[in-house]
Amino acid sequence: MSIIFNEKTKEFHLYNKEISYIFNIMPNSQLGHLYFGKNVKHRDSFEHLFQVEARALTACVFEGDLTFSLEHVKQEYPSYGTTDFREPAFEILQGNGSRITDFKYKSNHIFKGKKKLKGLPATYVENYDEATTLEITLFDDLINAELILSYTIFENYPIITRSARYKNYGNDEIYLTGCMSLSLDLPSDEYEMVQLSGAWSRERYITERKLKPGIQSIYSARGASSANHNPFIALKSLNADEFQGEVYGFSLVYSGNFKAQVEVDAYSVARVTIGINPFGFQWKLDKEEEFQTPEAVLVYSNKGLNYMSQSYHELYRTRLARGQWRDKVRPILVNNWEATYFDFNEDKILNIAKTGKQLGMELFVLDDGWFGKRNDDTTSLGDWVVDKNKLPNGISNLASEIEKMGLKFGLWFEPEMVSKVSELYKNHPDWIISTPNRRVSHGRNQLVLDFSRTDVVDYIYNKMSEILTQSSISYVKWDMNRNITEAFSAKLSAKRQGEVMHRYILGVYDLYERLISKFPDILFESCASGGGRFDAGMLYYAPQAWTSDDTDAVERLKIQYGTSMVYPISCMGAHVSAVPNHQAKRITSLDTRGNVAYFGALGYELDLNKLNDNEKLKIKKQIEFYKKYREIIQKGIFYRLSSPFENDVNYISWMIISKDKNTVIVGRYRILNKPNPGYERLRLVGLDNNKLYKIISTGDKYYGDELMNIGLLINDNFTGFNENFGEIEDGDFNSQIFVLTVDN
Ligand code: DGJ
Repeated sequence: MSIIFNEKTKEFHLYNKEISYIFNIMPNSQLGHLYFGKNVKHRDSFEHLFQVEARALTACVFEGDLTFSLEHVKQEYPSYGTTDFREPAFEILQGNGSRITDFKYKSNHIFKGKKKLKGLPATYVENYDEATTLEITLFDDLINAELILSYTIFENYPIITRSARYKNYGNDEIYLTGCMSLSLDLPSDEYEMVQLSGAWSRERYITERKLKPGIQSIYSARGASSANHNPFIALKSLNADEFQGEVYGFSLVYSGNFKAQVEVDAYSVARVTIGINPFGFQWKLDKEEEFQTPEAVLVYSNKGLNYMSQSYHELYRTRLARGQWRDKVRPILVNNWEATYFDFNEDKILNIAKTGKQLGMELFVLDDGWFGKRNDDTTSLGDWVVDKNKLPNGISNLASEIEKMGLKFGLWFEPEMVSKVSELYKNHPDWIISTPNRRVSHGRNQLVLDFSRTDVVDYIYNKMSEILTQSSISYVKWDMNRNITEAFSAKLSAKRQGEVMHRYILGVYDLYERLISKFPDILFESCASGGGRFDAGMLYYAPQAWTSDDTDAVERLKIQYGTSMVYPISCMGAHVSAVPNHQAKRITSLDTRGNVAYFGALGYELDLNKLNDNEKLKIKKQIEFYKKYREIIQKGIFYRLSSPFENDVNYISWMIISKDKNTVIVGRYRILNKPNPGYERLRLVGLDNNKLYKIISTGDKYYGDELMNIGLLINDNFTGFNENFGEIEDGDFNSQIFVLTVDN
């Protein structure tokens, strides 16, 4: 067991070979926090870490004791109003209007393994030895409510997961007006807060700021985790970088409204909270009702940001993603969206698929526009019936034609939405999220179905199920293209309207769960106008996600670099598209487009029949290359080497190394060309000092220690001695891929 409870000192120590997490039961029977960081040896008592002293102008808990104030101690799951004046981890509104609570320690339960979270995505174990869990039960006698805090420590990762569960045993209703998944009081504010922020088409840019007194936070109130802020923050110590230094990561396994916040108090304590956004949230608990918060995943790294990311990658790829696609290499797909948009017919589709097959692609994905009368984005969402004008022989015939070619077939849906111009809306105008007697806002000409209602989810499940049963479909792209406004559900009472946003996302999870259970062979890829709901919650259902609608290779460097902060390479849909690029209007070479898209789940999204023979040949070679190395690309260890977010950056690089350290794939990208440049060396990391590596394209050999300390000698003329298949490429937006293998 890697969790010790010391009955005498009332201390808990969660530890593995990398980390220690220590906390205690305080004199008021609530939980105090003592330490989280690099592992320390266990000792009989950590009492000396519990620091209290008398201070002027301080409210204290016990009469006659001027030392014990909740403002001055570090806590596990603090409340407001009983001597702590900072923002709390939770708040409960009671019948008499009070929000004061007192959850006291009652019992604890330590067990091997990890429980599922009902209705919510969460990390899991495959055998009990992989993790140990501690559940602490606290109870508030006055309101008869229970609070269970759950902690799981993974044996082989520097990772602790946390969540909270509330249950009302009292006769009176109570309201949760805030309930974060985690709160952590760190004893220092000497950190930079790292966040992933952006917007449509420029998702998950890395942004950093030094912590300052007061509150700094990011959040979503859009009904989806959003492109604007990702449900993740890291605190990195001021001297830390990608390769060294202390970093704390906080990731939320959730796809709806979230908030991640750091409050720095007057004593330089940094209180981190992450969970459902309390703004607009209120959850009613009647007698015997429970509420489970989403799971937060905490990583501690003393080897910089890369190690934090690698820990997330490995856990999320192997113990969050599920199903048979978790471990399989991902098929190379061709998607018709940027090739045709809504303007296609059966011939066009079959021709693209045919060429795709000739070039080595494995899956054809039919995107938006195949149903109802959907010739643009104003109609038909909700009418999941094939448009016979475009596809006279139906989906099942198209799927089988494509399968006959030797490709798998995939289909696009946007299950959560309805167009005003649709049969579904005509028949069920009350199924949308809207507030009575208020104007309904629009986004992309569509309305949001009320997924907090089971009847709505049932209907969509049946419709999708029908299509997925009737045709041979191996892949589903699940899109979601607008955020929720006028949040209100016709099915919920006035007192429960604060539940709509969370219930909506529970409905989305429910539909996913039903579909992946019924169709376990289908690979699901989540999407929300690109990366508008790219989060750990979605990965539990869909092991792949469309990273961004922006397919420009230069923009993608930033997007994929930022996304890699938390999310594994295997889950990032990355497509080669046409030039000029449809989003950035930039022209980049086919090589560079490929060299960027290799670092993800590779796909193509352009009209393959408009390519010349040379381009087709190149794509064929790209696909051969990717097939050869995709096992390593998708499952290896990824390192960010030089960042596109630094000032005046011109060179960006990253690499993947196989777990046995025998194969290394390096991507190096130059934004603008420079005449007569200096000589560059690129230092690699994570190699075996003593292995002799050969650069496949040049035959040059270096030992691992040379590559890590001296570096790879780069010829910046980019003369083509690389994996660009013999082509000499110069000019702007250029790139090189180096493959190194151990030469025995
Ligand atoms: C937004 C997605 O991100 C695109 O890839 C595409 O599927 C369109 N929606 C279709 O409407």
